[in-house]
Amino acid sequence: MSQRSRPLPRRSCLSTPGSSERFLAKAPTATADFSFLDLEDSVAPKEKVAARDKVVAALRTLDWDDRVLCVRVNAWDTPWTYGDVIDVVGRAGERLDEVMLPKVRRASDVVALDLLLSQVERNAGLPEGHVGIEAQIETAEGLINVEEICAASPRLESIVFGPADFAASIGMPVTTIDETLHQGPSTPFSYVFAKILMAGRANGLHVIDGPFLKVRDLDALRYAAGITAAYGFDGKWALTPDQAAVLNEVYSPSQELFDKSLDILDAYRRATQEQLTGAVMFGDEMIDEASAKIATSFVARGRRSGMTRSTS
Ligand code: GLV
Ligand code: MG
Repeated sequence: MSQRSRPLPRRSCLSTPGSSERFLAKAPTATADFSFLDLEDSVAPKEKVAARDKVVAALRTLDWDDRVLCVRVNAWDTPWTYGDVIDVVGRAGERLDEVMLPKVRRASDVVALDLLLSQVERNAGLPEGHVGIEAQIETAEGLINVEEICAASPRLESIVFGPADFAASIGMPVTTIDETLHQGPSTPFSYVFAKILMAGRANGLHVIDGPFLKVRDLDALRYAAGITAAYGFDGKWALTPDQAAVLNEVYSPSQELFDKSLDILDAYRRATQEQLTGAVMFGDEMIDEASAKIATSFVARGRRSGMTRSTS
């Protein structure tokens, strides 16, 4: 796994088609925690191979600040996966943090990518285990196997829900992914979100929601993103820089939560270093190492969005 990217927040995960030099050049100017250059569904089959050179050039020459940088390769049921990995990761250099594998159906899909990456890293002179993996859950089979998928490789950094392919896989009667899927007493994705979240968290992974396709309706995006933010997801895909700006807000902690998290960390540090105890009262609540871990994650996300502690 990439030591650099693993702890970094992923509130907004910006998707950019790898076949478009214009969109590739614009991507680093968007304020996003994470950018992935796509070789999969946003690239037409006839452009798949040519897109590899464009993606390598973008990875090597553009200024990606410190965001997590990823390439989405094609799924194993296509003719392109191994070529994407060998050609793109082999030439990308150390700045590439992760490879995203779509339509993961079982743990062996991830294991196969892990093995291939190990050889590519050796031949490219990259540190062993440098390239992390993101696995997309986009089919009923993938969802059923998500627990073993999340445990399949130490390279895994994130588990990602792909709602559009998933809706197609289960025969959901919808033609887009919008806020209506989150309305009503029982929503079609409630079980999916909970299952992916538990499997991801049980393995220490970031858990990410996929795209919202009604791209012009930012209020509807805010509503839909609020649902997975409330579950505890770390972030969501953005298809435009405007969507990324909304997501950076939705998946950031409130000022109150940020301040409380800093106070918890202070109290926990005093408890463990001065009072030599692992659990201590914080107001009316008991805190321990788990509380400190939760607080650390909120502080990291808040700092990412430029938050500072309130002075009052
Ligand atoms: C993303 O890949 C999706 O299918 O929603
Ligand atoms: Mg998909």
